[in-house]
Amino acid sequence: MGFTPQFLDELRTRVSIVSVVGRKVKLVRKGRDQLGLCPFHNEKTPSFTVNDDKGFYHCFGCGAHGDVIAFEMNAHGLGFREAVERLSGEAGLELPVETPDERERAVRAAGLHDVLEAACLKYMEWLYAPAGRAGLEYLRNRGLDDAAIAQFRLGFAPDGRQATREALLRQGIPEAPLIEAGLLIQPDEGPTYDRFRGRVIFPITDRRGRVVGFGGRALGDAQPKYLNSPDTPLFHKGRLLYNLAQARAAAAEAGTVVAVEGYMDVIALSRAGFRHAVAPLGTALTEEQLAELWRLAPEPILCFDGDKAGRRAAFRAAERALPLLEPGRSLRFAELPAPEDPDSLIKAQGAQAMEQVLARARPLSDLLWRMEIEGRPLDTPERRAALEQALRERVRQIADRSVQQHYTEMFRERQRELFRPQRKPRTAPTRGGRFFDPRRDPARHVLSDGGGVAIQVSPRLLRERILLAAVINHPTLLDLVGERLGGVRFADNELDNLRQEVLKHLGGASDLDSGGLERHLRSCGFSRQLDTLLGTDVYGHAAFARPGVDMAVAHEGWEDTFTLYLQQDMRTDVLEAEERLASDMSEATFQRFLALKRQEGA
Ligand code: UTP
Ligand code: MN
Repeated sequence: MGFTPQFLDELRTRVSIVSVVGRKVKLVRKGRDQLGLCPFHNEKTPSFTVNDDKGFYHCFGCGAHGDVIAFEMNAHGLGFREAVERLSGEAGLELPVETPDERERAVRAAGLHDVLEAACLKYMEWLYAPAGRAGLEYLRNRGLDDAAIAQFRLGFAPDGRQATREALLRQGIPEAPLIEAGLLIQPDEGPTYDRFRGRVIFPITDRRGRVVGFGGRALGDAQPKYLNSPDTPLFHKGRLLYNLAQARAAAAEAGTVVAVEGYMDVIALSRAGFRHAVAPLGTALTEEQLAELWRLAPEPILCFDGDKAGRRAAFRAAERALPLLEPGRSLRFAELPAPEDPDSLIKAQGAQAMEQVLARARPLSDLLWRMEIEGRPLDTPERRAALEQALRERVRQIADRSVQQHYTEMFRERQRELFRPQRKPRTAPTRGGRFFDPRRDPARHVLSDGGGVAIQVSPRLLRERILLAAVINHPTLLDLVGERLGGVRFADNELDNLRQEVLKHLGGASDLDSGGLERHLRSCGFSRQLDTLLGTDVYGHAAFARPGVDMAVAHEGWEDTFTLYLQQDMRTDVLEAEERLASDMSEATFQRFLALKRQEGA
């Protein structure tokens, strides 16, 4: 009695060949492959490669070659059945007890692929027919050209209850598989009718690119906004990822994969050159989907919408990932400016803005730390103990001992830094009274630059200096403000290099120590900058930036300064956009202008 091709397929999908081989052979990553010493012949230099995407191993020395099942058989001298049983057990897959009933279902499932493909072709045809005019117009209005429509095989399901049904019956497909494929709805009484009506159709494929279901977008405000196929023998929401088939190859090239929330986000990303994008199907990321992402890259980037829901989804994904972390295997989180999603950000600000957002993705450990310390007062021993307890609870969820230990250490160090009594100021305050109130700053400031020559400094440059000085003197501030400091670009190039070096050093440093940071920066050639930055001139304007100032005060001052800095930055951007709009009345320029106005107003 054999296993069905569907079952074996599922097994190969679920089991990572790299981790199976990795138990026997020490592997190192080399490009898209993993490389090691061949277990099937004697060798001193590695010629044995394993490729997780393709699910194969291959030895250039002895020619050994096969999939994960073959490896299990050859490496342990097992029979086919034994190997499959063992791997299924590890993957938590139930072994099929093959009844005649099941065999029949397997055969039917194979037929369902053809049914779904036929429906997909029909929907694609309709999009360009008179019946699909509204759908095509909708997609055009959202900025999709024919190439995009073809790449994602978008289609349209006409209004009315019988269009799909009649078209496919006419092609000789019986009603039963149409119902089983989720294309028709069978009411308790009366005839069957189309599931997708008056909707733009997004075909959803399995990892091999075969259509297994559809998402349908309403044209107007009809509810639900997106309607998906129901669960069928081929369609399981929690196991599939939109665009996985196309993203696999691209992910290998990019070295990473990006998970976003929506179909339109995936399409916008792909069109903007980020072809390694996928999305779950309207649900939170499941363990299976995380496992699928990890097959593509060791640190997938999650980039959810820049709203409350998106942030919640990121937290939920982080929680779900904790038990699954392994050495070298984690997630990163890219944060979009509110209220954008990837689709709207790319429309408003272009691919470059998206690139920056992705480049700034932060590690899972940072997200976790931020989740716990944000908005939590830490001014009493009890409150500090509560933080410690909360962090310990989180870390306890990590199953891998080594990863867990490193989390414990990192959080312990960060807490020590956060709670550490502040050092005495290095210089005496030059002005008594309250700290600098950035709201009261005059249009221009006179600073003496090192040698005592009085020069004019713009408020913008002064604020940039203040923002940096505060962080250099209070490295733990970075946990609260690092994201935002990483999200701006300073006008002054040299100062911007310094900003980046500070972020880089503190991002990778295990101990956040001001003295060490300053030494490091001086060794990188920033001495002149530092002398200006960490001097009485800056402190005179912003006493909160001095060393030794209480963290809470430093934080408050930083926030005030940053708010003003952004407002003025935004003002410049809006003025620029306005000018551009005057000379170029295109839709894109106009949209960008509107987006900036909205942000400025927010
Ligand atoms: P969003 O509402 O963020 O979708 O839902 P979107 O992609 O930004 O939609 P547009 O741009 O308005 O067209 C994100 C995803 O959640 C699922 C879909 O997969 C969608 O892409 N979803 C959303 C549903 O399944 N059903 C719904 O009613 C809404
Ligand atoms: Mn969205």
